[in-house]
Amino acid sequence: MNEIIDGKKFSQTLRTKVKSYVHIIKERYGVTPGLAVILVGEDPASQVYVRNKGKQSLEVGMNSYEYKLDASTSSDVLLSLIEKLNNDVNVHGILCQLPLPDHLNEKAVINSIDPKKDVDGFHISNVGLLNTGQKSMIPCTPLGCLLLLKDRLGDLSGKNAVIVGRSNIVGKPMANLLLQENCTVTIAHSRTENIETICAQADIIVAAVGRPEMIKREWVKPGATVIDVGINRVTKNIDGYEKTTLVGDVCFTDMAGLVAGLTPVPGGVGPMTIACLLANTVTACYRSQDLSDPEFT
Ligand code: GUN
Repeated sequence: MNEIIDGKKFSQTLRTKVKSYVHIIKERYGVTPGLAVILVGEDPASQVYVRNKGKQSLEVGMNSYEYKLDASTSSDVLLSLIEKLNNDVNVHGILCQLPLPDHLNEKAVINSIDPKKDVDGFHISNVGLLNTGQKSMIPCTPLGCLLLLKDRLGDLSGKNAVIVGRSNIVGKPMANLLLQENCTVTIAHSRTENIETICAQADIIVAAVGRPEMIKREWVKPGATVIDVGINRVTKNIDGYEKTTLVGDVCFTDMAGLVAGLTPVPGGVGPMTIACLLANTVTACYRSQDLSDPEFT
């Protein structure tokens, strides 16, 4: 079987499903899912992300609302915009692009979003709901990883999963999702002792530490499935030239002939994140009309 887990192709299939759910709710209920994205400041990477989110929303037939605010925007102005969007029936999802400028309190801003419209799944209510196995908004990157894993492996029950990285955005929600799938879950991190031995026992590794090519061949059990969330820009000598290139947290070339499945960087988890954002927005829209959740698995 092909080792490569093609996230780009899978995300296209997911977007097609999203598009058909958008079509159904428009036709039957006269409601168009709408995603509002707020960008404060001019961070170049964030500008690219926000542009892609808007473009892909339109491509699946949703409405896209973009709010570009000056880097000096006050907390009051930002919070009143969020309140306005919370009360707008045409807006089903709200995303405030992170990081925010230093003078803004990220936690307060996120927690001011209506949890039902929190398509990032970062609101403390959604974190608590996911943690206790209740219906919530699920953070997009871990959701994307889970969809790829289920597609490749089917039932995950009883698998030994090791997550490398304990961030609120990926590591912790990923652990909760895999627990719900009846995996035995370990979260390893920068202070973990014998991390290599722990990883080498895993049926599933999710690497989300942001350390270029940290996970080497000796860390991985033959036949394991490896999901690489890392996107690291590094300088490499390629054919005698110094070039900047993207690598994951996993040493890709080390995995050849060893793993059952591996996501490449780029083209693995990355494309899944925006597709899951669109999926979450459609889910929020269906819930707003008291309809049952769309199915994306
Ligand atoms: N910045 C980088 N990734 C993300 C994300 O998934 N959501 C938000 N809101 N900001 C981000």
